Amino acid sequence: MTPLKYAVLAGFLLMPLASATVAEPALELVQQNCVSCHQSEVYTRDDRLMQTYDDLLAQVRRCELNLGLSWFDEQIEQVARHLNQEYYKF
Ligand code: HEC
Repeated sequence: MTPLKYAVLAGFLLMPLASATVAEPALELVQQNCVSCHQSEVYTRDDRLMQTYDDLLAQVRRCELNLGLSWFDEQIEQVARHLNQEYYKF
């Protein structure tokens, strides 16, 4: 194996450890992936598009798919739940 492959493999193996130490994984996910196009004002503006929690879950999935992030369902749910707790409060 090339050194690069070792590095990639090591990174992959360490990933679960790294994310386990993050106190708020959903917050991290949002900050790392979601703020380049819109910050939190899109969730709190008067004419926000989401009307229900299901809308929100679907929209998180839509944005995530657009970005090609390949999140697990749990990550999508964590982020939707986080946005709901912080902003939408359905
Ligand atoms: C490539 C740009 C882009 C990125 C990055 C992005 N989004 Fe979006 N998002 C949009 C657009 C465009 C809209 C629609 C905004 C509008 O209609 O004004 C939107 C809308 C939303 C809404 C609905 C806002 C409302 O009106 O209530 C949610 C929730 C949302 N995004 C979540 C996310 C999450 C979670 C991520 C990170 C995974 C993310 N977005 C990353 C482009 C992006």
